[in-house]
Amino acid sequence: MSQGLFITIEGGEGTGKTTLAASLRERLEAEGCAVVTTREPGGIPIAEAIRDIVLRKENTAMDARTEALLYAAARRQHLVEKVMPALAQGAVVLCDRFVDSSLVYQGYARGLGIDEIGEINRFATEGCTPDLTLCLDLPPEAGLDRIRLSGSREVNRLDLEGLAFHRRVREGYRLIAKRYPQRIAMLDAAKPAAEVAAEAWAIVQARVRSRK
Ligand code: TYD
Repeated sequence: MSQGLFITIEGGEGTGKTTLAASLRERLEAEGCAVVTTREPGGIPIAEAIRDIVLRKENTAMDARTEALLYAAARRQHLVEKVMPALAQGAVVLCDRFVDSSLVYQGYARGLGIDEIGEINRFATEGCTPDLTLCLDLPPEAGLDRIRLSGSREVNRLDLEGLAFHRRVREGYRLIAKRYPQRIAMLDAAKPAAEVAAEAWAIVQARVRSRK
């Protein structure tokens, strides 16, 4: 479809997605690849505006389907405005979260149904699927502790969900990794960041080389 390579990074809160993206970016650039790093929800002004609504702590009245539709809307705009043009130019796009986040958080953890959420996202993305997904697996207690201790970002509406919700998120990722074993690679995020990055790089490098 495109000459670029679309790589998504997935996982629960505090699993180290941002750190991994930065490390992969550096290694890809060292190999001479053009790289675009981005995130969902957000990445461009319209999607950042939707992100503000969906993650604002005060928006406690948000209905689960509204939430799912807002994520899909932000995704659509980000995809056409940023991801697709970058892929068309041959870049490697490293995206922090994509459709799998919705399948897991809204479909599985919120209980709206993985297939139902898959449906609205097929509409939003017109079937655009990542070439590779790296999924960081970590017990939610450890991830939430990392966020609290590092103070690396503000606590958002989804962080405030109970531990049971975040456990379902982890379970959901494991479930979809089984569903799409060709595309999704699970990485043990409890390992030191450098080790996780080295494992991820081995997988990414193989994909980059097979493309050349
Ligand atoms: P963010 O601050 O980016 O958290 P993280 O650093 O863990 O990625 O917030 C994104 C939140 O939105 C996160 O709790 C996961 C949630 N989310 C969904 O529930 N569904 C989605 O489709 C996406 C993209 C994110």
